[in-house]
Amino acid sequence: MFKTRYKSHHNVKNIISKLMSNKVVTPLAFNKIMKESPKVKEGGIYVHTPYCDNICSFCNMNRKKLDTNLDRYVEYLCKEFEKYGSKKYVQEKNINTIFFGGGTPTVYSATQLEKLLSTLRKNFRIVENCEFTFETTLHNLTLEKLSVMEKYGVNRISIGIQTFSDRGRKLLNRTYDQKEVIRRIKEIKEHYSGIICIDIIYNYLDETIEEVTQDAQFAIDLGIDSISFYSLMIHKGSKISKDLENKKLFFDYQILRDKELHNKFLEVTLNNGFKLLELTKLSNGRDTYGYIQNINNCMDLFAIGVGAGGRVGNIEYYNMNKLISFYAHDNDFKYRVKKLSGLLQFPEIKLTDIRKLTGDTIYPEILNLLQEYEKARLIEFFVDSFRYTADGIFWGNSIDADIVTKMIQCQKEEN
Ligand SMILES: C[S@@+](CC[C@H](N)C(=O)[O-])C[C@H]1O[C@@H](n2cnc3c(N)ncnc32)[C@H](O)[C@@H]1O
Ligand code: SF4
Repeated sequence: MFKTRYKSHHNVKNIISKLMSNKVVTPLAFNKIMKESPKVKEGGIYVHTPYCDNICSFCNMNRKKLDTNLDRYVEYLCKEFEKYGSKKYVQEKNINTIFFGGGTPTVYSATQLEKLLSTLRKNFRIVENCEFTFETTLHNLTLEKLSVMEKYGVNRISIGIQTFSDRGRKLLNRTYDQKEVIRRIKEIKEHYSGIICIDIIYNYLDETIEEVTQDAQFAIDLGIDSISFYSLMIHKGSKISKDLENKKLFFDYQILRDKELHNKFLEVTLNNGFKLLELTKLSNGRDTYGYIQNINNCMDLFAIGVGAGGRVGNIEYYNMNKLISFYAHDNDFKYRVKKLSGLLQFPEIKLTDIRKLTGDTIYPEILNLLQEYEKARLIEFFVDSFRYTADGIFWGNSIDADIVTKMIQCQKEEN
């Protein structure tokens, strides 16, 4: 039904950017909002750490190999926290999610973390039960750092495991073998009562059904609270992509194989108490992943650090470097398109919510598309909602892209 399988929500966001022009605004527009009271009282913080101490073969994220002491970057982040904290808009916000992402935000020393987290807490109004996440990699998550993080309220860690298979770990250039990964997770669980999430990559080169089943089973047996599962994307610039070009590796990507591995992972986890939180995320019920819910709902997100992206009101922004940020204004239609795209990430979607976002004239066109997906068994209708089937989850981001493209085309025809 689709020419391309889009594997991530980022792909859909890129499509929206291509189809709708960006209305670039100056920092003045952003600063003006920051002097006002926020219309919505809740919001989140994202802090980016663009460094890793080991580079994985599949990754082209916004990060570079750590080559210096991070004192200056810590200093810069603390100044940014203070700058944000001095703005009225921020002072009146109740922060209900904080996400330290990367890169690897546990590359800091325990002392640097202490400084970062104490300065953060001083400058924001953080609600008591705020969801506070750190992305991390096992080899630099020491128990000392974990206890500093816990002291300052970090109640959710997201560990990039990728796979428990030793063959897969070598291919992806992950540190530690399976035995050590399991030992470290058990050790962390003994010392840490917060939520533990892991990232898994499936359909890496020649991955077998046994390997994907084993990955799901280890997550279940180790009592992991939630799992983000992604099909391997071969990004330009990554080591895997260069090795493929130079014929050091061979990968015959087959969509049916991708689906088989995806559906197996889903089947094993769903049969063992996990539920789908959104297209690429599963939870045992303990983790609600408020951060991603806020992003999908286009809530405010203060983006701090080089390479961080966020939103304030109708302005989306991205920090290119320490001095330059890029700001773009979303008009009402573009904002609704983005909200619709976010809504389509969830497993069950109310038709009335779609109609609110598309408007009455475009809605019948979207309903036609949904009926086609139903015929192809990608979704199932209920009284006033629909749910993705396992195949629908697999094609979910292509469905999302298809629907938002239709919404944009209909609007262009109307004008
Ligand atoms: C921003 S990364 C940070 C995770 C952390 N630094 C780590 O790797 O331990 C978040 C996740 O995106 C996923 N990811 C990154 N590159 C990917 C790729 N090329 N294909 C599929 N998933 C990818 C990985 O599962 C990764 O853990
Ligand atoms: S996957 Fe994580 S640890 Fe590996 S290079 Fe990318 S950001 Fe760094």
